[in-house]
Amino acid sequence: MQSDIKEVLITEKEIANKCAEIGEQLTLEYKDKFPLLVGVLKGATPFMADLSRYIDTHVEMDFMDVSSYGSGTRSSGEVKILKDLDAKVEGRDVLIVEDIIDSGLTLSYLVDLFKYRKANSVKIVTLLDKPGGRTAKIKADIVGFEVPNAFVVGYGLDYNEKYRNLPYIGVLKPEVYSV
Ligand code: XMP
Ligand code: MG
Repeated sequence: MQSDIKEVLITEKEIANKCAEIGEQLTLEYKDKFPLLVGVLKGATPFMADLSRYIDTHVEMDFMDVSSYGSGTRSSGEVKILKDLDAKVEGRDVLIVEDIIDSGLTLSYLVDLFKYRKANSVKIVTLLDKPGGRTAKIKADIVGFEVPNAFVVGYGLDYNEKYRNLPYIGVLKPEVYSV
C-alpha cells in the first residue's frame, strides 16, 4: 500500500502534534459546555478518534453519513443524509469534525441543517482545508493544515475506499489512478 504513495504531505507526527494543539484549544473553548462532536463518516473517523482524546472536558460523540447528489445538482449544495445523528441538536453546542473541506458544499449543508434544528452554536474543525476548491461560502473555525488542490489520501481519506488506514496524508502516484 505505502509503495503507491508518491509524496507524504503531512506526517503521522505532524498530525499527532496538531491534534494535541487543537485539543487544547477546544478544551478551553468548550469547558462546561458538553459539546456535541459530529464526525462526518467515513473520512473523519481517525481525526475524531485522535482529536477527541486531547479534549479534556466532557463531550458527546455522534456521527453522520452524507453524500452529495450527482455532479449535475452539486452546485445546489444538495446532500442526501445516509445516516442521521442519534442525538438531538436543539440547544446544543455542535462541533462538526471533518477530514477535508473542498468545495464546502457538504459542510454548508450541515451547518444550515444544525441551525434549522436550533443548535445553540455550530462550529467546524477540519483537519485539512483545500481553499482552492471552494465554491460555497464557508470557512472552518479551526483548520489543521492547508493542502494544495490535489487529491490526497490517508488518515481517513480514500481513493476507491482504499488508503483510509494510512497513518499519514499523502499523494498517490499517477499510475495508481490509471489501473
Ligand atoms: P466538499 O463538499 O467540501 O466535500 O466538496 C468534501 C468531501 O469531499 C471529499 N474530498 C476528498 N476526499 N481526497 C479524498 O479522499 C481529497 O483530496 C478530497 N477532496 C475532497 C471528502 O469526502 C470530503 O469530506
Ligand atoms: Mg468527508
